[in-house]
Amino acid sequence: MLLHILTATEEPELNCRLRDFLTRNDTVVESLEQPRAFWKDLGQKACDLILVSRALVTNQALGRIQDLRTSSDIPAIVVLTEFEDEKDRAELVAAGCEAVLNVDLPFAKLGRALRAIVERRAKTAADVVSIPLQQPYAQITDFVAKSGAMNRFLKPLPRIAASGSSILILGETGVGKERLAHVLHAESPRSQGPFVAVHCGALPESLMESELFGHEQGAFTGATKARRGCFELAHQGTLFLDEIGEMPLHLQSKLLRVLENKEIRRVGGEKLITVDVRVLAATNRDLEEEVGAGRFRRDLYYRLNVVSLKMPPLRERMEDIPDLIDSYVEHLGSRIGCAVSGVSDSALEALCGYSWPGNVRELINVLERAMLLCENDAITTDDLPAAISGHEGLSIRELSHDPEVFPEELAQKPLKEARREVLEQFEKGYLTRLLASTNGRVGEAANQAGIDSRTLFDKMKYYGLDKKSFRA
Ligand SMILES: Nc1ncnc2c1ncn2[C@@H]1O[C@H](COP(=O)(O)OP(=O)(O)O)[C@@H](O)[C@H]1O
Ligand SMILES: [Mg+2]
Repeated sequence: MLLHILTATEEPELNCRLRDFLTRNDTVVESLEQPRAFWKDLGQKACDLILVSRALVTNQALGRIQDLRTSSDIPAIVVLTEFEDEKDRAELVAAGCEAVLNVDLPFAKLGRALRAIVERRAKTAADVVSIPLQQPYAQITDFVAKSGAMNRFLKPLPRIAASGSSILILGETGVGKERLAHVLHAESPRSQGPFVAVHCGALPESLMESELFGHEQGAFTGATKARRGCFELAHQGTLFLDEIGEMPLHLQSKLLRVLENKEIRRVGGEKLITVDVRVLAATNRDLEEEVGAGRFRRDLYYRLNVVSLKMPPLRERMEDIPDLIDSYVEHLGSRIGCAVSGVSDSALEALCGYSWPGNVRELINVLERAMLLCENDAITTDDLPAAISGHEGLSIRELSHDPEVFPEELAQKPLKEARREVLEQFEKGYLTRLLASTNGRVGEAANQAGIDSRTLFDKMKYYGLDKKSFRA
């Protein structure tokens, strides 16, 4: 992340020297215009370190430092003095100052000490805003990929990850876009830097700008503290903008400017801050269509689309399903504490025959539910949702009164249960056909069926039918 250091001294020459020495590509140094008031809003500054002359640390200032000393997100305070006074030094440190350094030290020595404090601070600052500096190791091989489709998709990734350009990740919900973003970061030259993810769909529009670019104290009602945005946090690392299609137009143009100039301005701020961030963006929307409808800026789309990766949906790589099952049965077993040995042959067949509109995420959810329900050693069709187990072998046509051909499986069940099963099967078939013939337009489908849209929605959810998979 980008570190901010403020100097509070009344000696322009010292300010200059400190600035020259400490400014690096991960550190900005600024001199306070009113150094005497450095302590006034100590708790509200979004900075990491304040270097202050001893003369400016009044009793009032010291009291304020002492009040705030246990709060984790105030800047570290280093006092610069010209006198060797052991007692004074002890008092300053006891009050909560990080260190007291003599400005008459050879500058190289002083600089080394300051650098060490800055580096320590970088670590705590990252903890405070909870961005892991070191990511759990993610690799391309973490992707279960047996199918040709997935292998073709993964093949160029190492080169793309290393390239450093922004990337647009496309694909339906649950295909693994976020997982891919982690991998692209981990396999890039920035892997030692932070990975910061922003979910554009989850943020109210009013907060998104400040989330991305930060804000200064007093920028808007409620902005009592200055705050860094995700671009600053992701400095020298990767910023993942998930659901970019949900970003409002006015922010899209700001984002485009940042991508082009590599500079941000905090909300309510004056100065431009240079950031070095690689942007990865993802969406399950059809951005071209969004551009056509005027909901997404064409220039931003072109800028992001220079490198785009479209992740194949699970139904186009069904060969991956058995390996995904193995890998998640094991993983979930230790996580939820109910291990099973695997899935039965018929359950595997059902799982491989389903269209997975919710992709890998849906598969993981189905497995987790099945493992919780499972009373045997292996998951059986009984543990799967009706929409998947579906008893597909049983077709409506077979339900004749002829006792010879009446399905044995149903004949064995209590009437109530048998009736429910057949009705559900019929209903799912009816709705699937209806949605197919209306290209997934729920309103129209509900109209045709003579039910209201809400009821249709609920039923679609129950049967795992996704309107998107019916779009022409
Ligand atoms: N090829 C894969 N192998 C293993 N797990 C996967 C794979 N693809 C996706 N996942 C898992 O599926 C879930 C959904 O993936 P996610 O990246 O959140 O999807 P998206 O962002 O596209 O909605 C995550 O738990 C992810 O780890
Ligand atoms: Mg996602």
